[in-house]
Amino acid sequence: MKYEPAPLPFSKTPEGISEKTLTIHHDKLYVGYVNKKNEIEEKLLPLMQGGDVASANQSYSELRALLDGLTFSANGTYLHEWYFESLAGAGVPQGPFADALIARFGSMENFLKFFAAAGMAARGWAVLAWDTKSQALQVYIGDAHNQGGVWGAVPVLVMDVYEHAYFLDYGSDRKAYIESYLKQLNWDRLNELYTSASR
Ligand SMILES: [Fe+2]
Repeated sequence: MKYEPAPLPFSKTPEGISEKTLTIHHDKLYVGYVNKKNEIEEKLLPLMQGGDVASANQSYSELRALLDGLTFSANGTYLHEWYFESLAGAGVPQGPFADALIARFGSMENFLKFFAAAGMAARGWAVLAWDTKSQALQVYIGDAHNQGGVWGAVPVLVMDVYEHAYFLDYGSDRKAYIESYLKQLNWDRLNELYTSASR
């Protein structure tokens, strides 16, 4: 089944992110991942339904290239959707997600400090997830779309720290981008995502 790209989930441009950055990020990069995901799935389907997979090999094989590309493009798709959903809110922490963060980190200030640092430590993604195995909020980082993810952890707050997310607006000052990103979070949407993930 063809996956349709989601439109940007807000009408006003998020604070601290330019229209140009956002357009490139959504229309070119994100949509590019969706298209690759669809293309790969189309090639995989006949193989899944009784095709010749006898040459499967971990060093190199067509099946390996397709499956590796699928995890990259699927995560590139989903992580960006969570990222876009976190943008363009009032930025004032409130609701069950904020309460859960305060319980886990001791204070909202502690959480924001730690999550910002995780964004500096990551090469691609900082993800605050509900870990369904440990039944706790946890921060995981990814250095590529298909690296660093933990099975069973459901992302709630996903911060993109690849340079394409901020370089046009902040140059190499990732810290300033993260600071500005954390000030405009959409807590209404994050509360919905947290409630659904931890249910
Ligand atoms: Fe991105």
